[in-house]
Amino acid sequence: MTTRILALCGSLRAKSYNRMALDHAVEVAGDHGAEISVGDIADVPLYNQDNEKQPPDAVVRLGEQIARADAVLIVSPEYNYSVPGVLKNAIDWVSRLPDKPFAGKPVALMGCSMGAQGSGRMQYHLRQVLLSISAVALNKPEVMIGSCHEKFDDTGKLTDDKAAEMIGRLVDGLVDWHRTLAG
Ligand code: FNR
Repeated sequence: MTTRILALCGSLRAKSYNRMALDHAVEVAGDHGAEISVGDIADVPLYNQDNEKQPPDAVVRLGEQIARADAVLIVSPEYNYSVPGVLKNAIDWVSRLPDKPFAGKPVALMGCSMGAQGSGRMQYHLRQVLLSISAVALNKPEVMIGSCHEKFDDTGKLTDDKAAEMIGRLVDGLVDWHRTLAG
Protein backbone atom coordinates (compact mmCIF):
# COMPACT_ATOMS: atom_id res chain seq x y z
CA MET A 1 0.00 0.00 0.00
CA THR A 2 1.26 3.47 -0.87
CA THR A 3 2.13 5.73 2.08
CA ARG A 4 0.63 9.19 1.64
CA ILE A 5 3.10 11.77 2.82
CA LEU A 6 2.41 15.46 3.27
CA ALA A 7 5.55 17.56 2.92
CA LEU A 8 6.13 21.02 4.38
CA CYS A 9 8.97 23.29 3.31
CA GLY A 10 10.46 25.79 5.77
CA SER A 11 11.65 28.12 3.00
CA LEU A 12 9.19 30.19 0.98
CA ARG A 13 11.59 31.55 -1.60
CA ALA A 14 11.14 30.60 -5.24
CA LYS A 15 14.64 29.23 -5.76
CA SER A 16 14.88 27.50 -2.39
CA TYR A 17 17.39 24.65 -2.24
CA ASN A 18 15.18 22.98 0.34
CA ARG A 19 12.28 23.11 -2.07
CA MET A 20 14.53 21.60 -4.76
CA ALA A 21 15.44 18.77 -2.37
CA LEU A 22 11.77 18.30 -1.61
CA ASP A 23 10.97 18.23 -5.33
CA HIS A 24 13.53 15.46 -5.68
CA ALA A 25 11.80 13.50 -2.90
CA VAL A 26 8.45 14.00 -4.66
CA GLU A 27 9.97 12.70 -7.89
CA VAL A 28 11.43 9.51 -6.41
CA ALA A 29 8.70 8.79 -3.84
CA GLY A 30 6.99 6.23 -6.07
CA ASP A 31 10.16 4.10 -6.10
CA HIS A 32 9.92 3.91 -2.30
CA GLY A 33 6.25 3.03 -1.88
CA ALA A 34 5.12 6.58 -1.19
CA GLU A 35 3.43 9.55 -2.77
CA ILE A 36 4.27 13.03 -1.56
CA SER A 37 2.02 16.07 -1.81
CA VAL A 38 3.24 19.48 -0.72
CA GLY A 39 1.33 21.51 1.85
CA ASP A 40 1.32 25.29 1.83
CA ILE A 41 2.42 27.35 4.82
CA ALA A 42 2.91 30.61 2.91
CA ASP A 43 -0.62 31.86 3.67
CA VAL A 44 -0.57 31.08 7.38
CA PRO A 45 -0.85 34.41 9.25
CA LEU A 46 1.14 35.21 12.36
CA TYR A 47 -0.21 33.33 15.34
CA ASN A 48 -2.52 35.32 17.57
CA GLN A 49 -4.26 33.59 20.43
CA ASP A 50 -7.16 36.06 20.13
CA ASN A 51 -8.09 34.31 16.86
CA GLU A 52 -7.68 30.79 18.13
CA LYS A 53 -11.40 30.00 18.37
CA GLN A 54 -11.79 30.82 14.68
CA PRO A 55 -8.52 29.76 13.11
CA PRO A 56 -7.68 31.20 9.67
CA ASP A 57 -8.67 29.12 6.62
CA ALA A 58 -5.02 28.41 5.76
CA VAL A 59 -4.53 26.85 9.19
CA VAL A 60 -7.69 24.76 9.02
CA ARG A 61 -6.67 23.57 5.54
CA LEU A 62 -3.19 22.67 6.72
CA GLY A 63 -4.57 20.82 9.74
CA GLU A 64 -6.86 18.78 7.48
CA GLN A 65 -3.99 17.94 5.14
CA ILE A 66 -1.86 16.74 8.06
CA ALA A 67 -4.75 14.73 9.53
CA ARG A 68 -5.39 13.00 6.18
CA ALA A 69 -1.73 12.13 5.57
CA ASP A 70 -0.16 8.91 6.78
CA ALA A 71 3.05 10.75 7.56
CA VAL A 72 4.68 14.17 7.32
CA LEU A 73 8.05 15.12 5.83
CA ILE A 74 9.49 18.46 6.91
CA VAL A 75 12.22 19.94 4.71
CA SER A 76 13.75 23.11 6.03
CA PRO A 77 16.76 25.39 6.12
CA GLU A 78 18.38 26.49 9.34
CA TYR A 79 17.92 30.14 10.25
CA ASN A 80 20.25 31.44 12.93
CA TYR A 81 20.88 27.91 14.17
CA SER A 82 17.17 27.15 14.54
CA VAL A 83 13.76 26.60 12.96
CA PRO A 84 12.65 29.30 10.46
CA GLY A 85 9.91 31.48 11.91
CA VAL A 86 7.45 30.72 9.12
CA LEU A 87 7.65 27.00 9.85
CA LYS A 88 7.50 27.37 13.64
CA ASN A 89 4.55 29.76 13.27
CA ALA A 90 2.64 27.24 11.13
CA ILE A 91 3.37 24.45 13.64
CA ASP A 92 2.26 26.67 16.53
CA TRP A 93 -1.04 27.40 14.77
CA VAL A 94 -1.71 23.75 13.93
CA SER A 95 -0.85 22.72 17.50
CA ARG A 96 -3.83 24.77 18.71
CA LEU A 97 -6.42 23.06 16.49
CA PRO A 98 -8.85 21.02 18.61
CA ASP A 99 -8.19 17.69 16.87
CA LYS A 100 -4.36 17.97 17.26
CA PRO A 101 -3.46 16.64 13.79
CA PHE A 102 0.22 16.13 14.62
CA ALA A 103 -0.44 13.90 17.63
CA GLY A 104 0.86 10.38 16.93
CA LYS A 105 1.83 11.35 13.37
CA PRO A 106 5.06 9.87 11.97
CA VAL A 107 7.34 12.73 10.92
CA ALA A 108 10.71 12.75 9.14
CA LEU A 109 13.05 15.71 8.82
CA MET A 110 15.65 16.80 6.34
CA GLY A 111 17.29 20.06 5.42
CA CYS A 112 19.78 21.87 3.25
CA SER A 113 22.00 24.76 4.19
CA MET A 114 24.88 26.56 2.57
CA GLY A 115 26.96 25.92 5.68
CA ALA A 116 28.74 22.65 6.43
CA GLN A 117 26.23 21.58 9.10
CA GLY A 118 23.41 21.05 6.59
CA SER A 119 20.67 22.31 8.95
CA GLY A 120 21.58 19.95 11.80
CA ARG A 121 21.12 22.54 14.55
CA MET A 122 17.66 23.39 13.19
CA GLN A 123 16.75 19.71 13.10
CA TYR A 124 17.58 19.17 16.78
CA HIS A 125 15.51 22.21 17.74
CA LEU A 126 12.66 20.98 15.55
CA ARG A 127 12.80 17.54 17.20
CA GLN A 128 12.20 19.27 20.53
CA VAL A 129 9.17 21.10 19.09
CA LEU A 130 7.82 17.83 17.68
CA LEU A 131 8.03 16.27 21.14
CA SER A 132 5.79 19.01 22.46
CA ILE A 133 3.07 18.33 19.88
CA SER A 134 3.31 14.52 20.31
CA ALA A 135 4.45 13.93 16.73
CA VAL A 136 6.59 10.81 16.46
CA ALA A 137 9.83 11.75 14.77
CA LEU A 138 11.87 9.21 12.85
CA ASN A 139 15.35 9.19 14.43
CA LYS A 140 17.44 8.05 11.45
CA PRO A 141 18.64 8.52 8.81
CA GLU A 142 19.58 12.11 9.50
CA VAL A 143 19.62 13.96 6.19
CA MET A 144 21.67 17.13 6.50
CA ILE A 145 22.75 18.46 3.11
CA GLY A 146 25.57 20.96 3.60
CA SER A 147 27.04 23.25 0.92
CA CYS A 148 23.71 22.91 -0.84
CA HIS A 149 24.51 25.64 -3.38
CA GLU A 150 26.96 23.15 -4.95
CA LYS A 151 24.51 20.25 -5.17
CA PHE A 152 21.81 21.38 -7.61
CA ASP A 153 22.09 22.42 -11.24
CA ASP A 154 20.67 25.59 -12.81
CA THR A 155 17.33 23.90 -13.42
CA GLY A 156 17.00 22.89 -9.75
CA LYS A 157 17.87 19.22 -10.27
CA LEU A 158 19.79 17.45 -7.51
CA THR A 159 23.23 16.48 -8.85
CA ASP A 160 24.76 14.97 -5.72
CA ASP A 161 24.55 11.16 -5.58
CA LYS A 162 25.10 10.92 -1.84
CA ALA A 163 22.31 13.41 -1.10
CA ALA A 164 19.99 11.56 -3.50
CA GLU A 165 20.77 8.27 -1.77
CA MET A 166 20.10 9.79 1.66
CA ILE A 167 16.76 11.25 0.54
CA GLY A 168 15.73 7.83 -0.80
CA ARG A 169 16.72 6.22 2.50
CA LEU A 170 14.73 8.82 4.42
CA VAL A 171 11.56 8.17 2.40
CA ASP A 172 12.09 4.41 2.94
CA GLY A 173 12.52 5.06 6.64
CA LEU A 174 9.35 7.14 6.86
CA VAL A 175 7.32 4.51 4.98
CA ASP A 176 8.59 1.83 7.41
CA TRP A 177 8.00 4.09 10.39
CA HIS A 178 4.39 4.63 9.34
CA ARG A 179 3.89 0.89 8.93
CA THR A 180 5.45 0.20 12.33
CA LEU A 181 3.30 2.78 14.10
CA ALA A 182 0.15 1.71 12.24
CA GLY A 183 0.77 -1.83 13.53
C1 FNR B 1 20.65 31.62 6.90
N1 FNR B 1 21.56 30.64 6.53
C2 FNR B 1 22.08 29.81 7.49
N2 FNR B 1 22.81 28.69 7.16
C3 FNR B 1 23.30 27.86 8.13
O1 FNR B 1 23.92 26.85 7.81
N3 FNR B 1 23.06 28.13 9.45
C4 FNR B 1 22.35 29.22 9.87
O2 FNR B 1 22.16 29.40 11.04
C5 FNR B 1 21.85 30.10 8.86
N4 FNR B 1 21.12 31.19 9.21
C6 FNR B 1 20.45 31.90 8.26
C7 FNR B 1 19.53 32.88 8.66
C8 FNR B 1 18.78 33.54 7.71
C9 FNR B 1 17.74 34.55 8.15
C10 FNR B 1 18.97 33.25 6.33
C11 FNR B 1 18.12 33.94 5.28
C12 FNR B 1 19.90 32.32 5.94
C13 FNR B 1 21.87 30.40 5.12
C14 FNR B 1 20.95 29.34 4.53
O3 FNR B 1 21.51 28.07 4.74
C15 FNR B 1 20.78 29.56 3.03
O4 FNR B 1 20.28 30.86 2.80
C16 FNR B 1 19.87 28.53 2.41
O5 FNR B 1 20.00 28.61 1.01
C17 FNR B 1 18.42 28.76 2.81
O6 FNR B 1 17.61 27.73 2.33
P1 FNR B 1 16.72 27.85 1.00
O7 FNR B 1 15.93 29.11 1.07
O8 FNR B 1 17.69 27.87 -0.15
O9 FNR B 1 15.89 26.63 1.01
